[in-house]
Amino acid sequence: MCTVAGVLSRDAEAVTDWLERYFDQIGCRSGSLHPSHLQTAMRYSSVNGGKRTRASLVLAGWRLARGGDELWDDTALAVAGAVEMLHAYSLVHDDLPAMDDANIRRGQPACHKKFDEATAILAGDALQTEAFAILSQDGLCDDPARQLELVQLLAMASGEAGMAGGQMLDLMAETKIFDLPQVRYMQELKTGALIRAAALMGVVAGNGDMAMQKAVSAYAQNLGLAFQIADDILDYEGDAGQLGKPAGRDAEQGKASFVDLLGLQDARRTAAELVSQATEMLDIYGSAAAELQALAHFTVDRKS
Ligand code: IPE
Ligand code: IPE
Ligand code: MG
Ligand code: MG
Ligand code: MG
Repeated sequence: MCTVAGVLSRDAEAVTDWLERYFDQIGCRSGSLHPSHLQTAMRYSSVNGGKRTRASLVLAGWRLARGGDELWDDTALAVAGAVEMLHAYSLVHDDLPAMDDANIRRGQPACHKKFDEATAILAGDALQTEAFAILSQDGLCDDPARQLELVQLLAMASGEAGMAGGQMLDLMAETKIFDLPQVRYMQELKTGALIRAAALMGVVAGNGDMAMQKAVSAYAQNLGLAFQIADDILDYEGDAGQLGKPAGRDAEQGKASFVDLLGLQDARRTAAELVSQATEMLDIYGSAAAELQALAHFTVDRKS
């Protein structure tokens, strides 16, 4: 598979099918004849669309570690599904009136608009715990130590030291002036941490060695920051129709961003530099790292 669009769409289809099957399978576990209201909201927010970048990072990391022709196995797909559920939870809560107050997500009404705020809070909560239920299920991985590491990686990337901590800083920055190192730190937490975890979890699931884990971690750290800078640039100049979410809201809401502090041109240059630093970290793996390197370029070239 040589184009990044090809990699993304193939991986997106695989993980979306996996999520569909997962929700089909847990369908009536509450004992009723129909999936619960909460499950309907969880499914609505995680199965519908999205670029599935994090899933692709899991799978491409796994492929690098395996070094073979296999695209994925059951473990890799489950890990990718869990990471996408966690990400979907972060988006559902990010859109709430108490946070970014956004009505559209992935081209559809945001969860709290389709349902209501209480349902969206609970759907986010439940997507998060479902992700950990998937990762901790018996037999997910042939090695319990590696399975525990997967759980730990996602937990640390999602909580106070990662996404949630970064989201808190993002809200605090609406009323406080943040300088560049502070904005960088906030972005690394709110977006970078989960992106880094995704790629690393792929390598760990594929049993990649410590040197590979270090290289992929450094790659993904740069990539994660570039990803949020690109998101901020798209918010600044993108159109809502193409993005499938509101545009121009960051400035309106006083969000701190690289665009705000550096201007468009320098923000773009910083993102491009981060991408080239990211790809360099994987040069030692030659063509085996081509997919991960292409995903890094996609991060800044994307239009949505
Ligand atoms: C949006 O993430 C939120 C950020 C962390 C910037 P994505 O741009 O990956 O959103 P989807 O999953 O494709 O909808
Ligand atoms: C969100 O950043 C990061 C998350 C952890 C969800 P944004 O608030 O910029 O994401 P969008 O632009 O709404 O997707
Ligand atoms: Mg936000
Ligand atoms: Mg937002
Ligand atoms: Mg944004």
